[in-house]
Amino acid sequence: MKILVTGFPGQLAASFARMPVGSHAFEFASRADIDVTDEAAVRRKVAAGAYDTIVNCAAYTAVDRAESEADEAYLVNVAGPRNLAAAAAETGSKLVHVSTDFVFGGRDASRPIPVDALHSPLSVYGRTKSEGEAEVRAILGDRAMIVRTSWLHSVNGPNFVTTMLRLMGSRDSLRVVADQVGSPTHVDTLSKTILGLLKADACGTFHVTDSGVASWYDFAVGISEIASAKGILQKPITVEPIRTEDYPTPAARPSYSVLDTTRAASILEESAPHWRTTLSASLDDVQREIMNDRGI
Ligand SMILES: NC(=O)c1ccc[n+]([C@@H]2O[C@H](COP(=O)([O-])OP(=O)(O)OC[C@H]3O[C@@H](n4cnc5c(N)ncnc54)[C@H](OP(=O)(O)O)[C@@H]3O)[C@@H](O)[C@H]2O)c1
Repeated sequence: MKILVTGFPGQLAASFARMPVGSHAFEFASRADIDVTDEAAVRRKVAAGAYDTIVNCAAYTAVDRAESEADEAYLVNVAGPRNLAAAAAETGSKLVHVSTDFVFGGRDASRPIPVDALHSPLSVYGRTKSEGEAEVRAILGDRAMIVRTSWLHSVNGPNFVTTMLRLMGSRDSLRVVADQVGSPTHVDTLSKTILGLLKADACGTFHVTDSGVASWYDFAVGISEIASAKGILQKPITVEPIRTEDYPTPAARPSYSVLDTTRAASILEESAPHWRTTLSASLDDVQREIMNDRGI
């Protein structure tokens, strides 16, 4: 299968580059190779490449900055997928478009959010991602695969894990929001699951996250505990739980954004690993880098 992956070297696109190639021929495209907002360039690239599948990892992901850069966020997150979907429709390529838990507001939710729940985004970023999904559905219908995920991390940040490790290395204590709940997800869980769903020839909308639920506070405590046990941090740091209103941000965030992943799990006949398991495996890579640097 010939697969074009956009948005390289973003953290998800970089994860596809780490996957065993198997029978796939991957082509990774940075913004310089293909700017997804440039309709003509997208059409040319997709027509010339004769790809079986396009995986759109290109996105405007600066959630807070999007509040003041809405035009740029709309271009990348709405016009981008529209251009890719139109080009895929012309060539018959399959489009996998990656979306987010932020399409939901999660204000009243208290149980995992089903794939067909109504969108109620609270931020510019969430609205752009919701409209990007709608563009893909309008052009390709159920021939597209839309995959929503949440709280993505890898050692190639910036993301919550890399930010926490940096702050935990230089401070004695941290205050972290405890009243927003979701599922931290390692990028490799997402890329592996997308490849599995492609192999199963799946179409439609899926939720893919690591299993387990955490608040940002729980996640920070997990990072501190696991990184200390591996010698990445000298000692566990004190993490103080705070409320959302104690840490104001330009963009509002869902208080509950746990996604119901049963649809993907039932097709693949396996459930995702727990977020602490993938976090620990990911921090093994950081530990190896530290040992290499120290010549151990
Ligand atoms: N990160 C999360 O916590 C999270 C959670 C849920 C869902 N998601 C979704 O998961 C997907 C992947 O996210 P990620 O964390 O891998 O994002 P990321 O690390 O920010 O990578 C995004 C990539 O897209 C590129 N890009 C931006 N504008 C572009 C354009 N006009 N044309 C082509 N490429 C462009 C960026 O390039 P530059 O560096 O040049 O800007 C970057 O390489 C996105 O759809 C995101 O909405 C992410």
